[in-house]
Amino acid sequence: MTDSKVSGAGTGNKRPKVVVTRKLPDSIETRMAELFDVDLNLTDTPMDAEALAAAVKRADVLVPTVTDNLDASIINQAGNQLKLIANFGAGVDHLDVIAAHNKGIKVSNTPGVLTDDTADLAMALLLSVPRRIFEGERILRDGRWTGWTPTFLMGSRLSGKRLGIVGLGRIGQAVAHRAKAFGLSIHYHSRKRAPDSVEEELGATYWQDLDAMLGRIDFLSIHCPLTPSTKHLIDRQRLKAMQPHAILVNTARGGIVDEKALADFLDSGRLAGAGLDVFEEEPAINETLLTLDNVVLLPHMGSSTREARIAMGEKVLINIRTFMDGHSPPDRVLPRRTTV
Ligand code: 8YV
Repeated sequence: MTDSKVSGAGTGNKRPKVVVTRKLPDSIETRMAELFDVDLNLTDTPMDAEALAAAVKRADVLVPTVTDNLDASIINQAGNQLKLIANFGAGVDHLDVIAAHNKGIKVSNTPGVLTDDTADLAMALLLSVPRRIFEGERILRDGRWTGWTPTFLMGSRLSGKRLGIVGLGRIGQAVAHRAKAFGLSIHYHSRKRAPDSVEEELGATYWQDLDAMLGRIDFLSIHCPLTPSTKHLIDRQRLKAMQPHAILVNTARGGIVDEKALADFLDSGRLAGAGLDVFEEEPAINETLLTLDNVVLLPHMGSSTREARIAMGEKVLINIRTFMDGHSPPDRVLPRRTTV
């Protein structure tokens, strides 16, 4: 496949070589096989650095996921044939967009189609930690429930409390809408202040100063991308700024929170609880977190609905096809801002 055939509209009959790094929903894989010369990963074995280097050397289009560490050292090994990295997922922190850009490789992602599902999961965590739902479930399954008592497993009420949201993008707003319906008042810190209409609809209070917001809220939910400037945004100092009865929920990226510091704060009672769907070194999890009752730990399943995963695949197909037709992929990711 020559460059012109990859990026030009209808410039050849040869189908582009598309390498998909993980097993995708069947309907998506079938369509890919119809449209492209595709290498699927039917065993779903995660690709190590060697396998990724081989992939960027042969693919015209690479379809990675969050589990592929596509840093500059891998991207710089790409052959000239690689023209598009069509990521299956919204977050692109696992790939070096600047290195790709410098090598003339375009990057696309799949925003918008996983918003509601991720927001639902954040809401589930915002409910299950203060209401101690998983603690109750564990007690019951372990045969430790001896019957109802007036003071058993008392949690804390959501309604009337304050939720702080970091990053009021698509998912942050979707969480705010849900949380408002549960009687929480909405506070947020974001790179860009939301339009008046959004603030009015949500009754949201904007905090330019994250530290100032942290000391005033009862729940914190993280919804910003992981970038060099949001790495450990919630560090030891910021955890200290939070009220001891507060609960932290993270469905964005583990690296935004200092996981070790968080575990220390939860363990010592300086923070009341946490609901985590993402971790710094997935699939590894801080040992202390695993021992704590006041945390709910989930295996990065925010967008794991059939509907979202198929819609993500459809977006990947559309990005590749549009690009092959000589246009910019609709969900192109540009090297960009690095702040919240
Ligand atoms: C995906 C996600 O499951 O899209 C994202 O950014 O975090 C997840 O919902 C994952 O990224 C797929 O690659």
